Amino acid sequence: MSEAPAQIAADVAQSQAVLEATGLCKSFAISKSPREVVRDVSLAVKRGEFFAVMGPSGCGKSTLLNILGGLETPDHGQVKICCTDPYQLGEGERAAFRRQQIGFIFQFFNLLPSLTAAENVMLPYRLERNRAWPLRGLGADRDARARAHDLMAMLGLKGMQGHRPDEISGGEQQRVAIARALVSDPAILLADEPTGTLDYHAGRGVLELLLRLSRQEHRTIVLVTHDVRTAAYAERVAIMLDGEFKEVVDLGHRTVHDTGPLLERLATHGL
Ligand SMILES: Nc1ncnc2c1ncn2[C@@H]1O[C@H](COP(=O)(O)OP(=O)(O)OP(=O)(O)O)[C@@H](O)[C@H]1O
Ligand SMILES: [Mg+2]
Repeated sequence: MSEAPAQIAADVAQSQAVLEATGLCKSFAISKSPREVVRDVSLAVKRGEFFAVMGPSGCGKSTLLNILGGLETPDHGQVKICCTDPYQLGEGERAAFRRQQIGFIFQFFNLLPSLTAAENVMLPYRLERNRAWPLRGLGADRDARARAHDLMAMLGLKGMQGHRPDEISGGEQQRVAIARALVSDPAILLADEPTGTLDYHAGRGVLELLLRLSRQEHRTIVLVTHDVRTAAYAERVAIMLDGEFKEVVDLGHRTVHDTGPLLERLATHGL
């Protein structure tokens, strides 16, 4: 039986890359001489895919993530986020585009200590409220409050709305940060060592959550890490060394995130 046109259109949309990069290069002046910290990196990540970049400290992971997220202009190469090159936009427009399309998650959560968990989640909305570009679907304060409430419930933070960051655990703080990243309903989540300061159990909770967001909500996730156990949650893992992708390992959709297959590939690169 042939597929209905609507289904075919949905399949095509599903298979298209929401995040693409070609030939990215970036140099910084280190001790006055330029050093290329991202070297000719290309990638294409599909809707709902969980993609990790793994490599040792200083290999250029955060720089790459910042370039992909529209925060750091590359010297060469092109980024396309949902078919738009953010670096072709003016600064204000690019910031608005970034806030709409991308949620950032950081190692140190970056929550504001004086705000409650719910206020932290709503912060992107509050910052946006007086600008010309309202966040998708959040026309009024009560919409934003309802969205924050729903997100916190979905992420297992019920009852913690009124708590301040120092009153909740690290794992809970990271889930608040993930809820904040989701408030603009972004297609893409970019996570920089999101479990770096968490213990094994809390870190696993955060990774299971990211996995759920990719598989059930079809969010595209790009996570960078130096930790093989963290990278093993992804479907594909790029091994990055000295600014370059040495190999992209296809782990596929797995239910058990053992590190064996990835460790085997890492060993061939001397890691
Ligand atoms: N703004 C900057 N100016 C100068 N050098 C920079 C800048 N940002 C990064 N670097 C340098 O670029 C290199 C790559 O840094 P980057 O932070 O991307 O590495 P990383 O892989 O994320 O490391 P880590 O795992 O320790 O976070 C490092 O040598 C760093 O010192
Ligand atoms: Mg880094």
